[in-house]
Amino acid sequence: MVLKAIAQRRSIREYAPTAVSDAQVDELLRAAQFAPSAQNSRTTDFIVVREQAAKDAIARIMEKPFLKDAPVIIIPASGAKDIFYVQDIAIASENIFVQAAELGIGTLWKHVAPEQAVKIRALLGIPDDKKIVNLIPVGYPKEKTVPHGDADFDRKRIHADRW
Ligand SMILES: Cc1cc2nc3c(=O)[nH]c(=O)nc-3n(C[C@H](O)[C@H](O)[C@H](O)COP(=O)(O)O)c2cc1C
Repeated sequence: MVLKAIAQRRSIREYAPTAVSDAQVDELLRAAQFAPSAQNSRTTDFIVVREQAAKDAIARIMEKPFLKDAPVIIIPASGAKDIFYVQDIAIASENIFVQAAELGIGTLWKHVAPEQAVKIRALLGIPDDKKIVNLIPVGYPKEKTVPHGDADFDRKRIHADRW
């Protein structure tokens, strides 16, 4: 079941207007908060943006018009120390991606460059001690997607016991 959802997960850059319910978003956030975190610090907050004006502003800052069409944008913000914030955000994001795929909902890791992060932080009032590296549009894909399969499984990249 989990592998099926992992295979179904694709990066979605065109979203249908179909609503995503609060209960569905809640499931995604449960998946996110069930993720491991370095030293079990659990310092990642999640900003759930539904307001159209805020999504429009995010789309402008990111120069990606499709972002305004996603019913929801989730922004993980981590307070983890040193290098751990990227790992904590990444693993929580992947949990969101997989649970969304399970629900037939599309997502994307949209990288936020440092100069974009400054603007997103100001827009959403993210505190100084919380770092962001990505944002996650959430919504039903406009078109049917092809799941990952055998063509994406590369045995040449697997090394038994040593390189
Ligand atoms: C760290 C990371 C950064 C990414 N940044 C972007 C991005 O800024 N914009 C984008 O459209 N996709 C981004 N992606 C998505 C990848 O392009 C995508 O995962 C890859 O093409 C494989 O396609 P799939 O996700 O459908 O399997 C990113 C993925 C990762 C893991």
